[in-house]
Amino acid sequence: MTLTFTDVPMSPRLLAPDGTPTDFRTHEQRYGSLSYGDPTALLRTVAESGLTGRGGAAFPMYRKLLSVAEAARRTGRTPVVVANGAEGEPASRKDRTLLRLSPHLVLDGLQLAAAAVGAEEAHLAVEDGASYLESALGQRHDPVPVRVVRLPKRFLSGESSALVQYVSGGAALPRYQNPPVRERGVHRTPTLVQNVETLAHLALIARYGPDWFRSAGTPAQSGSALCTVHVAGREPRVVEAPFGMPLHRLLPLDGMSAVLLGGYHGTWLPAVEAAQLTLDSADLGAGFLAALPADRCGPAETARVLRYLALQSAGQCGPCLNGLPRIAAAFATLATPGPQGGTRADVARWSGLVEGRGACHHPDGTVRLVRSALTTFAAELDAHANGFCTATDGTPLLPVPQES
Ligand SMILES: Cc1cc2nc3c(=O)[nH]c(=O)nc-3n(C[C@H](O)[C@H](O)[C@H](O)COP(=O)(O)O)c2cc1C
Ligand code: SF4
Repeated sequence: MTLTFTDVPMSPRLLAPDGTPTDFRTHEQRYGSLSYGDPTALLRTVAESGLTGRGGAAFPMYRKLLSVAEAARRTGRTPVVVANGAEGEPASRKDRTLLRLSPHLVLDGLQLAAAAVGAEEAHLAVEDGASYLESALGQRHDPVPVRVVRLPKRFLSGESSALVQYVSGGAALPRYQNPPVRERGVHRTPTLVQNVETLAHLALIARYGPDWFRSAGTPAQSGSALCTVHVAGREPRVVEAPFGMPLHRLLPLDGMSAVLLGGYHGTWLPAVEAAQLTLDSADLGAGFLAALPADRCGPAETARVLRYLALQSAGQCGPCLNGLPRIAAAFATLATPGPQGGTRADVARWSGLVEGRGACHHPDGTVRLVRSALTTFAAELDAHANGFCTATDGTPLLPVPQES
């Protein structure tokens, strides 16, 4: 059996244009009811759409669906599906905004993903808004039961191995991913973990088809993505933008010195370089952009975030447990005007020592941020070494949770 698609062009696609939460009845009126088709047709549709994960790594969804379904066949175990709504990144808002405004798109996508891999158990993992989602679930009659899981508020809670461990009743701590969770996840069963935004796109692709999905974006990167945009002095905004959109249309770059792309595991870039990029050519991780005004201190922003990241280490791997606090402390020295001796070289060397040495990617992501800061803020770091700072406004730009 093949899927048939209705032709409904929409923009924005995922978030209701009026910005109000959508109940199930409005959801069905707006998008029509869901038809599942058979799993093979659904897989083909996902492959043709080019949908990639929106949780950070941009992995093609159909390849993950295929490998979970294959692992289930090979092991004879019924797979499990987990919707990842953790959004552990403190500066990101896009997943909680999606869950609040369009919960039924995510829940449709979760059911479709379960149908595609043959799962009979599904979980929706979130840090916030669990009771709201439970009442959204109460409005529906889904074939596969969904349990809402409340995650601890930590940067690492949404890492896939930490997530499946927590859903299985353990601690939300990452583990070495061998075998990967798609082979051994929740209850040691093949498990599909997908970001909630990825699932919401799936809900629309199943209705309107791959050609509709590809009508936004570029040939290499199809569709649209939710982005959290931070601009100094304003509340963070969540926008939906097609891949291919120039970054300067998403955030103002005049009067900015640098842009942070991809979140706290992301990359600082000079604003003039960011102005040349589009949404698909930039590495935006889970859709994060922040513009640093020229009168703020980039090293100081980085030092605050690094301290937070070092405290988020799950303390299981020596290089991460010992290395990240040393790097963060040294970077705090660099962020303060005054003599710095060999601290800059130490930070670069220690970064090389922790990279690739953790069970999860936390050290690697942290090192990415450090290296990009050393390059992008090289002139400011020179000024600090000479005893002065060019910044005149000390207001923090990037949010960092209070230490408990
Ligand atoms: C340190 C770390 C934190 C992560 N946090 C999240 C998160 O909060 N939400 C999320 O969807 N994915 C997060 N991920 C990515 C997940 O491990 C996983 O790749 C993702 O949920 C898969 O979904 P996708 O393919 O739909 O993007 C994180 C990864 C790492 C390394
Ligand atoms: S690398 Fe760090 S955060 Fe990741 S599991 Fe090891 S100690 Fe925990």
